[in-house]
Amino acid sequence: MKSSSLLFALLFGTLLGSAQANPALLAQYQQQAKQQNPAFSGFSAERGKALYYRESTASGKTMSCASCHTSDPRKPGKTPAFRTLEPFAPSITPARFSDVKKVEKWFLRNCDDVFKRECSAQEKGDLISWILTVK
Ligand code: HEC
Repeated sequence: MKSSSLLFALLFGTLLGSAQANPALLAQYQQQAKQQNPAFSGFSAERGKALYYRESTASGKTMSCASCHTSDPRKPGKTPAFRTLEPFAPSITPARFSDVKKVEKWFLRNCDDVFKRECSAQEKGDLISWILTVK
């Protein structure tokens, strides 16, 4: 089964000490993405990167994920209220993408902030696939 090989890849990655997301989270997005789009054929780091830098004016001002998480996600982020954020990349901040509830809460809030809509399961999986490659 595909999801078990995904799990294996993630566990194997843990043994190698590479940056990780919660395996349950990616498995969940993969399952949802298949349900939402029968033609879904896997996550794409390239699409995830494009999503992160995509500028949107949906909320009346030009914004992207990079506006707060910065154009270099290995660097600390900053909100419009000048609150400092820990770097977005799990290679620098290992707790990133490990707490399913936190990840879901902020995907919901931030996708709405930037795009005025929810991000799809595919978009969330794409973004995580990309951010795991940022070393
Ligand atoms: C207006 C500022 C702002 C923008 C724009 C923004 N974020 Fe965030 N984001 C935050 C804050 C604040 C947090 C919570 C504090 C933290 O975790 O650093 C956060 C946390 C997150 C988390 C939780 C990650 C974890 O596990 O720690 C995810 C996922 C996330 N953001 C995704 C996105 C995505 C995707 C976009 C673009 C669509 C985006 N954010 C744009 C401010 C922003």
